[in-house]
Amino acid sequence: MKQQKWIRITNCENIPLREGRSLKIGECEIGVFNLGDRFLAVENRCPHQGGPLADGIISGTAVVCPLHAWKIDLESGAVLKPSDTTNCLHAFETRIEDGIVLLDISGLETTRSEEEISCSLTPQDLETQKTAT
Ligand code: FES
Repeated sequence: MKQQKWIRITNCENIPLREGRSLKIGECEIGVFNLGDRFLAVENRCPHQGGPLADGIISGTAVVCPLHAWKIDLESGAVLKPSDTTNCLHAFETRIEDGIVLLDISGLETTRSEEEISCSLTPQDLETQKTAT
């Protein structure tokens, strides 16, 4: 069984309801989406031509790419539309702890530490949390 590697991403309120935000870990950009009752995360790179999925529109548990409207399932990373596409993105496990979104990055080939994560969210919030614990 693979060992999970959880990192703290941001406060839940920094990702508005039914919107996505992106963050970068090493070379991998990840889109994190607020579905209301949970957060889902996939690679932020549309399998069609690399569109930024975090800027797409959430539809159910899927996101519609802002470039050419491919539809990606946020739970599995699979392409739902067009239906004849077998491409799949990596989907990351998430959880919430004390109002903070955590992401399991054990699937990433990276040796980078949490401090090297660049995030379009508000990393300073995480700094506040770190010093508070
Ligand atoms: S880049 Fe996403 S649908 Fe074309």
